[in-house]
Amino acid sequence: MPESKTIVLGVTGSIAAHKAVDVCSQLAKSGADVNVVMTRDAQEFVTPLPFKTLSRNPVVTSLYDEDKGWRPTHIRLADEADLLLIAPTTANTIAKLAAGQADDALGCIALALNENAPVIMAPALNGKMWSHPATRQNVQTLTDRGVQFIGPVAGELACGYEGLGRLASVEEIVSASLQSVGMNG
Ligand SMILES: Cc1cc2nc3c(=O)[nH]c(=O)nc-3n(C[C@H](O)[C@H](O)[C@H](O)COP(=O)(O)O)c2cc1C
Repeated sequence: MPESKTIVLGVTGSIAAHKAVDVCSQLAKSGADVNVVMTRDAQEFVTPLPFKTLSRNPVVTSLYDEDKGWRPTHIRLADEADLLLIAPTTANTIAKLAAGQADDALGCIALALNENAPVIMAPALNGKMWSHPATRQNVQTLTDRGVQFIGPVAGELACGYEGLGRLASVEEIVSASLQSVGMNG
């Protein structure tokens, strides 16, 4: 069994947020120490409970979540992370991270992240949101900073459109994540 790594799994407010439960489950089953951080909007789509149960770790749902020690949870997780995976990633979170906004736990972790930790983002969004020049520019900014994007892929979208915007498969996201932390066997 390869050495366990700490994966911070950011979950944002997309209709695909329920698929993050499977991502969390598969990463945990693979032996990763998964710490889930949910945006406020993500909690409109899925509750923290399945993440807490499957990861066997507390779920961060607010910047002001209490932790046992004196250090703010977001700084502890930013230091401990071997990988920051955000799946699904909304257009809003892409924009926020490109701009370096830190008004929630996920934004703070992204900014304070240990410099050796890779960042993987798996977007899920309406095709027009993905192709909008603002999003294109934000994706380019993040790519230039070394962020790896997985997907989105083409298909039928929950918003009723067809096109590029579906979350990549859970298997692809999990496999790329494990590979990036050297846990792919
Ligand atoms: C039903 C519904 C589905 C949504 N799905 C998506 C989505 O798949 N991708 C996306 O970028 N935004 C989606 N949104 C909009 C986001 O929830 C909104 O931009 C929110 O501010 C995202 O916040 P967050 O990035 O902090 O989680 C959806 C909104 C609703 C009401």
